[in-house]
Order: sequence, then C-alpha cells, then structure tokens
Amino acid sequence: MTGRTRLTTTETVRDERSWLFTVRDQYDELDEVILVPCEEREVGEATADSADRQAADSADSGVEAWVNRCTHEAQRLDRGFGAAMRDGQIICPKHGSMFDACSGYCDNGDAADTTLPAVEIAVEDGAVYLTDDGYEFVHEGSIEDGGAEGGENGAGDADESQDDDDDMPSSTSHIGF
Ligand code: FES
Repeated sequence: MTGRTRLTTTETVRDERSWLFTVRDQYDELDEVILVPCEEREVGEATADSADRQAADSADSGVEAWVNRCTHEAQRLDRGFGAAMRDGQIICPKHGSMFDACSGYCDNGDAADTTLPAVEIAVEDGAVYLTDDGYEFVHEGSIEDGGAEGGENGAGDADESQDDDDDMPSSTSHIGF
C-alpha cells in the first residue's frame, strides 16, 4: 500500500522519548514500532544563519523508527511506558544491550553487532509520517492497547431508520401523580 499516515509530531517524540505504535506487516501480522529521537548532530556553530538552522533541524528528521523488538531475544524495547534511553541509545530492558537511536546499531552486550530493523518514516513540518510500504498503521500504543481487533462496531446496522420509539402502545396510559 502506498501513501503515508501521519503519526505524531517530532516534538511529542522528543518529549516522550519514545512513541509506540502498532502496525500490520505484509504478512498480515501485527507488530510494534517505536519512534525515538535521534539527536546525532550537534548543530554547533556550523550554520551561521538561524533560518538555515531551523530548516536543517526539521528537514533532518531528528526522529527514527525501529521495530520494537530486541535483536537478541523477542524482548520489547518499549514495554508500553516508554523505552529506556541514555545518551542517545535505546537500552534493552532484558539484558541491557544498547542500540544507537540514530543507526539502530548495537555494539555491546548480548545483542552486539546487530541492528534493529528500520521502518521508513518521513518528517515534514514537524509531523512524522509512516511511509514504509511494508507496514500499515493500526493504532497508537502497543498491540494490546488496541484491545480486541475490529472493535469498531459503530451503530452501523440501523439501516432502517426507525428512530422514533413508536413501539409503545399509544394508549391512554397516562399515569400522573
Ligand atoms: S533480549 Fe535484549 S539484550 Fe537480550
């Protein structure tokens, strides 16, 4: 499926440290993805012009998306209350391997020499979009947060518009006090 889905804002990702959402992959399986802030570049004195800096800041996404699963074991990095992060690295809660938030690469611990599977996103005007053809956005939060799937049963089957309540015998049942 092509197209893109607006997920959240870069500001939210930075504020919350990680932003978890559920996707459906190409095999029709649900999976989880996290958006994390990537503050790789120190925008020191390099760009003199502040407009330039701002443009660079928003164009240079500052956010990356990774499948929410450690490469060592099937351990969620964000267990529903934000991923543990330190110095631009995502810390696996199980054995403590740390993954670079910008590259997804891990050079330490049990998950050493592996890279988190990346999910394609785009950032535009401070908004983050899912653009990966392999994933379809399902909902914000963990898989469980979606509850039972297909819970979207609106009042859809009231086709015959009988919206008046005339099923009461319209007699003279007038009870007054
Ligand atoms: S499960 Fe993540 S380092 Fe072991």
